[in-house]
Amino acid sequence: MLTDTLNRPLRDLRISVTDRCNFRCIYCMPKEIFGPDFQFLPSREILTFEEIARLARIFVRLGVQKIRLTGGEPLVRRDLEKLIAMLARIEGLRDLTLTTNGSLLARKAEALAAAGLKRVTVSLDALDDAVFRRMNDVDFPVARVLEGIEAARRAGLWPIKINMVVKRGVNDHCVVDMARYFHGTGYILRFIEYMDVGNTNGWRMEDVVPGAEIVEQINAVLPLEPIGRGYRGEVANRYRYRDGGGEIGIITSVTQPFCGDCTRIRLSAEGKLYTCLFAGEGHDLRALLRSGRSDEEIAARIRTVWTARGDRYSELRTAATPRWRKVEMSHIGG
Ligand code: GTP
Ligand code: 5AD
Ligand code: SF4
Ligand code: SF4
Repeated sequence: MLTDTLNRPLRDLRISVTDRCNFRCIYCMPKEIFGPDFQFLPSREILTFEEIARLARIFVRLGVQKIRLTGGEPLVRRDLEKLIAMLARIEGLRDLTLTTNGSLLARKAEALAAAGLKRVTVSLDALDDAVFRRMNDVDFPVARVLEGIEAARRAGLWPIKINMVVKRGVNDHCVVDMARYFHGTGYILRFIEYMDVGNTNGWRMEDVVPGAEIVEQINAVLPLEPIGRGYRGEVANRYRYRDGGGEIGIITSVTQPFCGDCTRIRLSAEGKLYTCLFAGEGHDLRALLRSGRSDEEIAARIRTVWTARGDRYSELRTAATPRWRKVEMSHIGG
């Protein structure tokens, strides 16, 4: 088994299929930076579906069991279901899923499911339309995301997880509403601490609502009990409603980091491999793909990268500004 310097196996691959997004969430792609003049990757620099699928096959042979597609917004990449069909055929892959903002799901859920996608995770930061529009910053109505979620459910992309990033003073007053809305529905709601990813979102510790505070708020109206993590390396710490109304998850990368079990590697849209969400530099696999290297040579490179890995950024994080420039969330896919 392939393990890194902290004895963590390589299990999950997160593939960013585009650095573009139709939202400008204030905590991820602030408009001041990602404006009309922002230079996104030109298409020749982005991995083709064939290149992605080839790498995915190599990763699965190295021990990867789960693939998650991300972006930017993965559904803005044209014909994504073709890639999904290619990935769904890989033998040994146990889970194939996607994290989306849900804006295009109503239109695409069926084709995605038909291509072999198993489930989806949808970001949803508020049910209140005004708050939601303020957070996505492109005036996108929450009703259309809810329609997308419903379409995904109908298409059988199940279980569906709902991700809410909580930012102090922006949507922290929506936590209990959100819990009430999804209580008893079977959707798995997860609350995410606002993280200091990248360099552009103006992150401050004061804006983070600690997971413990979120649990307390919900527990006061819908009593909870902890059930821990569902599998080794799961980022969410789970709680269940004492009345049988299902479970929620809390992702506390800031106040209670989980690097010790981090089995994730990330591939950016341009083919760079990152061993941590907070990495500064990636390892260029596209150069290997496009210079005629064999699968064995590429696998050897990945093995070298993973074996040398010692990342545990969240555990080392201090409120002080880090010394390196980190890759942006929209580039690496969260
Ligand atoms: P499942 O457990 O398979 O449902 O997926 P997931 O929770 O790994 O994926 P998702 O894309 O929904 O991510 C949830 C949140 O956790 C996002 O805010 C991610 O940025 C964050 N996250 C995912 N992986 C990591 C990680 O390795 N480190 C940190 N710090 N955050 C992560
Ligand atoms: N902190 C925490 N979560 C974030 N996401 C995007 N930016 C941040 C951030 N700064 C979330 C998205 C999506 C997931 C992949 O990551 O909302 O649900
Ligand atoms: Fe787009 Fe997701 Fe980032 Fe929002 S969080 S800007 S939807 S990539
Ligand atoms: Fe893994 Fe880096 Fe996140 Fe820690 S901070 S859990 S090492 S991706």
